[in-house]
Amino acid sequence: MLNFEFHNPTKIVFGADTIARLSTLVPPTARVLILTGGASAEKNGTMDQVRAALGERSVHQFTGIEPNPSFETLMRAVEQIRRDDIDFLLAVGGGSVIDGTKFVAAAAQYQGDPWEIMLSGGAKVSSALPFGAVLTLPATGSEMNNGAVVTLKATHDKLAFRSAHVFPQFSVLDPTRTYTLPAKQVANGIADAFVHTVEQYLTYPVGALAQDRFAEGLLQTLVEIAPQALAAPEDYATRSNLMWTATLALNGLIGAGVPQDWATHMIGHELTALYDIDHARTLAVVLPALLDVQRAGKREKLLQYGQRVWGIDSGSEAQRIDATIAATRAFFESLGIPTRLSGYQLGQAAVEAVIDQLGAHGMTALGEHKNIDLATSRRILEAAL
Ligand code: NZQ
Ligand code: ZN
Repeated sequence: MLNFEFHNPTKIVFGADTIARLSTLVPPTARVLILTGGASAEKNGTMDQVRAALGERSVHQFTGIEPNPSFETLMRAVEQIRRDDIDFLLAVGGGSVIDGTKFVAAAAQYQGDPWEIMLSGGAKVSSALPFGAVLTLPATGSEMNNGAVVTLKATHDKLAFRSAHVFPQFSVLDPTRTYTLPAKQVANGIADAFVHTVEQYLTYPVGALAQDRFAEGLLQTLVEIAPQALAAPEDYATRSNLMWTATLALNGLIGAGVPQDWATHMIGHELTALYDIDHARTLAVVLPALLDVQRAGKREKLLQYGQRVWGIDSGSEAQRIDATIAATRAFFESLGIPTRLSGYQLGQAAVEAVIDQLGAHGMTALGEHKNIDLATSRRILEAAL
């Protein structure tokens, strides 16, 4: 196992009807800004519950954080914080709203141009406003981690930052709040959590036995619950398993002490920034192609993953690896997610555009071996055509 430090200060409050717990989670004298996305939280009654729980506190609201939150929109929230003298933020929504809130929390206290937060990957963040979250979409793990992804719309730059200052103080996870999700978002959430697990697991063995078994358990859980999660929106047991699995997939636990890949995410972010494809869908396109191109470096873990998650244990090594990648692709397709660029009406021109952006963003040594240069990224994207 590799050396590691593990620290996660986020308190989780999980279960049906737990939004009422905001009454004690949020400081009683706080001047609160609630941040939301579009209309979903208002329409499905989540906001009524939030407002009731906050009671007599001074509560302000910022609405309109879009999927793949933009710097431009988030800076309007920063202005509102200054105008209304806000001292506590509450994100109500999915990964985009929570990520956006993390950025706003840091930007509100940043001296200088806040885009530097993104350009520095978070290194320049020295403080942030405290915040909590009410999660409505199981997918990103943002509710229990310190990462966020923000897009500068004007230039199609989608960059990530991390900082010890932007862990949520708490996150409320009420699975009943997911019942109104469109099937497409449920599918996206399953795929995103699946790929988060794979990015931290499917690299090379370092003898991290518990992390491997834990990751395999999360992958198997996602495979097991996916059909029911899509078919039965109000099945509490299934939605609660999905919600907690997605959180565990990216709260630091399975990634401690193991090599990590993240190339699928970095390439995927460029596809979202250029073509506005949902985050999880970009991952479903890139991952099978990446596993194919990187099969030598990932050989041992591919065989382990194939055997333990998909039960593939016969045939030559090459045949088993082929079958494993095919099973992964078929899983995404079973969720209704196309796994080829052609499924999104993209071809060779898109490959070149993504390569240009990867170069511009310094993404020239990706993966657990840092051996995915631009030429390798091109091969991956061409294998995804
Ligand atoms: O805007 P509203 O009206 O709320 O609708 C949202 C949005 O259109 C809707 N939605 C959310 N909860 C709902 C609901 N609709 C009905 N009922 C509900 N209960 O779902 C749509 C998508 O929401 P979004 O927050 O964009 O989705 P997701 O949670 O998948 O977040 C994606 C963002 O997270 C980033 C991605 O890059 C992307 O920007 N990521 C963040 C990570 C992190 N912080 O660790 C890691 C991930 O890899 C990812 O990169
Ligand atoms: Zn993701």
